[in-house]
Amino acid sequence: MKLETETGSSEFFIGSSLDSLSSHCGSRKIVLIVDSNVLSLYGERLKGFEIIDIGHGERVKNLKTIDKIYERFLELEVDKSHMVVGVGGGVTCDIAGFAASTYMRGIPFSFVPTTLLAQVDASIGGKNGVNLKGYKNLIGTIRQPEFCLIDLNFLKTLPRTEFISGLAEIVKSAAISDAPFFHHLEENYGPILSMEEIEVERAVRSAISIKISIVNLDEMEKWERMKLNFGHTIGHAIEKVARIPHGMAVSLGMVTAAKLSVERGLLPHSEMHRLTVLLQNMGLPSEMEVDRSMVMDAITKDKKKRGDRINMILLRGIGNAVIVPVEKEELWNGIDEVCR
Ligand SMILES: NC(=O)c1ccc[n+]([C@@H]2O[C@H](COP(=O)([O-])OP(=O)(O)OC[C@H]3O[C@@H](n4cnc5c(N)ncnc54)[C@H](O)[C@@H]3O)[C@@H](O)[C@H]2O)c1
Ligand SMILES: [Zn+2]
Repeated sequence: MKLETETGSSEFFIGSSLDSLSSHCGSRKIVLIVDSNVLSLYGERLKGFEIIDIGHGERVKNLKTIDKIYERFLELEVDKSHMVVGVGGGVTCDIAGFAASTYMRGIPFSFVPTTLLAQVDASIGGKNGVNLKGYKNLIGTIRQPEFCLIDLNFLKTLPRTEFISGLAEIVKSAAISDAPFFHHLEENYGPILSMEEIEVERAVRSAISIKISIVNLDEMEKWERMKLNFGHTIGHAIEKVARIPHGMAVSLGMVTAAKLSVERGLLPHSEMHRLTVLLQNMGLPSEMEVDRSMVMDAITKDKKKRGDRINMILLRGIGNAVIVPVEKEELWNGIDEVCR
C-alpha cells in the first residue's frame, strides 16, 4: 500500500517481519530510535544496529529528548545518507519523525510501529511532533516517512489495555468512512479480540487503507482529514480529566458524537446503537462517571475551538462522517448522557 502526498510518499509493508528491516533500507546506514520497553523485549533482534534509547511514555515526548537525539546524531555523524527508523509506539514514531524531519532540514526516516495505535494511526500521515508545557503536539512538522514496516507479532507482547485502546481507532476509521468494514467488525470482533492473526491483519490493513485515502485527499487537514478526529474533541477532554487510556476516552467521545448526531436527526437511533454495541463488544466503554463541567472546561480550552461553536465530527449514518459546527449548549446535552 502506498501514500502519496505533496510532502512525500510512504510505502506500507503490512505483515512484514522486523527481520526484513535492513532489506528496505538499501545500503544506507541505519540508526534506530527505540522505546526502552521495546528495546528490553526485542533487543536481541535489534543487535548490529546503532540504537538511540529514548525511554518510554508520553513524558519523554518533549524537546529535551529531541535535543539528546540531535547530540547522538552529531556523534554518529548522521546525515542524509542515513536512514533513521523509529521503533516503538506513537510516542516513538512522533519523536523519531520530528527529530529526523528537523535535523539538517530533514533526513530520511521510517517507522516500525509496535503498538496497535501506532500501526493503524500514529505512524500514518506524516504528523510528527512533541509536547510543550502540557500542550500536546504543539511543536511539529508534517513530513512522510519513507516506509512503515508493520510487524503484527509486536502485538503479542502489548499490554491488553493498549491493544483494546488501539481497537477504538479501528472502529473510528470504519465508522467515519467504511460501512462494509464496520459490518465486518460487528461480525468478527471475537477473533480480533482473541488475536487471530488473519482477522487482526485484515482489520489493521483496512484501517490503514482508510487513513491513507483520507490523508491522500487532504494532507494538511484543511477539511477532509478533520474527519479522523471523530470522537476526539470530547475524547481528548475526557482523557485529560479522567486520566484514562486514549482509546477508552475516544470510545466515549464517539458515543457522545453519535448521540449528538441522533439529536440532530442525522443518524438513525438504530445506527447509534450499533456503534455502542460494537464498542462494548470490543471491551471499550460507552459511559462513565466523570465530572461533566470539567470535561466541558477542557473542551473549550482546546485549540480547535472557534468562538461559541465547535467543529464536531458527526455521523450521517455508519460510514459517513460530516463536519458540523455545534453550539456549546448542544454539546453539554450530549455529554450529559455519556458522562454520569
Ligand atoms: N502522529 C500522529 O498522527 C498520531 C496519531 C495518533 C496518536 N499519536 C500519538 O501517539 C502517542 C500514543 O501512542 P501509543 O498509544 O502507541 O503510546 P506509546 O508509544 O507510549 O506506547 C504505549 C506503551 O506500550 C509500550 N510498548 C510499545 N510497543 C510495545 C510492544 N510491542 N510490547 C510491549 N509494550 C510495548 C510502550 O513502552 C508504552 O509504555 C501519543 O503521544 C499521541 O499523541 C500520533
Ligand atoms: Zn486517537
